[in-house]
Amino acid sequence: MTVDEDQTARPAAASPELEGRLGFGAVFTRHVVAARYADGGWSGATLQPFEAISLSPASMVLHYGQAIFEGLKAFRAADGSALIFRAADCARRFRRSAARMGMPELPEDVFVEAVRAVVAEDVDQVPSAPGCSLYVRPVMFAAEPSLAVRASTEYVFLVVASPVDSFFAAGRTMIDVFAMRELIRAARGGTGDVKCAGNYAAAMVAKSAAVAQGYDEVLWLDAVEHRYVEEFGAMNCFAVTGRPDDGTATLVTPPLAGTILPGHTRATVLTLAARRGIPVVERPLALDELTDPDGSVTEVFAAGTAAGIAPVRTVGGSEGVLRKLGDEPGPVTAALAADYAAVVRGAAPAEDGWLIRV
Ligand code: COI
Repeated sequence: MTVDEDQTARPAAASPELEGRLGFGAVFTRHVVAARYADGGWSGATLQPFEAISLSPASMVLHYGQAIFEGLKAFRAADGSALIFRAADCARRFRRSAARMGMPELPEDVFVEAVRAVVAEDVDQVPSAPGCSLYVRPVMFAAEPSLAVRASTEYVFLVVASPVDSFFAAGRTMIDVFAMRELIRAARGGTGDVKCAGNYAAAMVAKSAAVAQGYDEVLWLDAVEHRYVEEFGAMNCFAVTGRPDDGTATLVTPPLAGTILPGHTRATVLTLAARRGIPVVERPLALDELTDPDGSVTEVFAAGTAAGIAPVRTVGGSEGVLRKLGDEPGPVTAALAADYAAVVRGAAPAEDGWLIRV
């Protein structure tokens, strides 16, 4: 491999022909926003062509992994404009992640403007088909050339964007998940509740093992007892107990107690459930509850920015299938997914500050 081979030779256009087979994060728009941090301050953020960047082989991110990121989406509204969902919330979480990782905090207005600028510059690349969107990925990494084991003094902030459709392979909309009991994702006091690259790097081996066994995603359990559900590899976890037709449906999700990523889709789902009058309970949720066919859990779904709302079809583990939930989304999952799709495209009311129109 040569280090100067062209890293930009990827299709960078969400043409109508590509819609329906974009996949996730495989094609990119024509521009990025970039800023640098050095000597205790940020440079201005500038819009640049999407092209390979030059990096010292000693850049600290390559050695110690000091990197954080965010994920948010722009959706095509019925009037043709693009709507960016929950950028300010991402800016806040990015600052929290930076603080935890010993990195400089990027001002929230700089973050939001960088996201807006990337979407605005290539707004023609926001796909319009149902299930498609422009996924926006802000990232910050340690760029100082040094092997010293301490926080870097130099950083790069970048925002790239990628037209996407389905997060899961082969356009899967119902997912099979593998409950991981051998490895853990996060323990109290660790970094599980911030969006640092290392959380995902350490989870890749579990994801590969799950996929090799025919599953779509990992279901992580608590680090102490390996008994309570935490989150999926890239999404938060929800269960429905009871049924809407007899008025007993309740939405249950694990509480944010320091090991779970506080997802914006998670927060949105909680708001949408409350709007529908569905009671919401944040409490520890045992894997046994999910897998008991005679228990009260009737639906399970995943919720994340990249994946959207993904109903769970099967929960499995090392001993095989633990529970088959059904081949169709349950009624609560389907209703919340429809509400979510309407809100992000401006077809149903958003809360203050959720949408930026481009
Ligand atoms: C997201 O849902 O935006 C994420 O960042 C999760 C994953 C794609 C890493």
